[in-house]
Amino acid sequence: MASLPKPITAVPILILLAASLCRALPSSEDPVPAPWPHQFHSILVMNYTGTLQLIDLWYDWPNGRNFNIIRHQLGSVAYDLEWNNGTSFFYTLDSARECRTIQVEVGILRPDWLDGAKYLGRRHVDGGFLCNVWEKADFITYYEDVDTKRPVHWIFYTGREAHVMTFEVGAALEDAKWQAPVYCFDKKKTDTLVPEAEAEAEAEFSITGASIDWRSMRNSNLLGFNLS
Ligand SMILES: *[C@@H]1O[C@H](CO)[C@@H](O)[C@H](O)[C@H]1NC(C)=O
Ligand SMILES: *[C@@H]1O[C@H](CO)[C@@H](O)[C@H](O)[C@H]1NC(C)=O
Repeated sequence: MASLPKPITAVPILILLAASLCRALPSSEDPVPAPWPHQFHSILVMNYTGTLQLIDLWYDWPNGRNFNIIRHQLGSVAYDLEWNNGTSFFYTLDSARECRTIQVEVGILRPDWLDGAKYLGRRHVDGGFLCNVWEKADFITYYEDVDTKRPVHWIFYTGREAHVMTFEVGAALEDAKWQAPVYCFDKKKTDTLVPEAEAEAEAEFSITGASIDWRSMRNSNLLGFNLS
């Protein structure tokens, strides 16, 4: 009779041990990020060490294109139009008539680009949204609303952060708006094959992985693109 309490106290310790071991291993129980809808429009507030931008993001996978319209606070508007064949146009529509055409080795982000991200758990973000949080290849931390599965927030490894203000699934920008201005096609002046150092500077424009850090993408193929 006197030996009875021993196994009873051992059981909770075993459960605790097993639970902590399970937590240390990647679990098939972990939630996975929702794939991006094939078409959506999102308004993002970007903050990079206090410098703010408002971005209209038009993601259009079926047509192989992605558009960031970037408003600097009380300043200019820049356009970053990316095609899945690797061509990106960065331009303004003001009198400067500036355009840079850039050829990258990868296309736009695939809808499943978050596959394989490492689950970090649940956190509150941006004034109270309860989110599942993942990290993808040390380059982005991604917050998705637990209830609605919508993205709420993401942070690049550079510290550049996006706050998702609207997320309209199925919204598509009309074809005519995807036309880069004619001065983008003046080959002598604008066509560039971007060296890596310059590519990193360009990365400031983009909120998508295609041009965030081309060097690390080349090295690690971190988004699963088929790099040559
Ligand atoms: C922007 O980020 C900085 C930290 O880098 C923070 O101090 C500041 O409050 C943020 N501003 C906004 C409007 O989120
Ligand atoms: C990629 O597609 C865009 C839009 O159709 C086009 O303007 C551009 O020339 C294409 N780039 C290449 C390398 O074919």
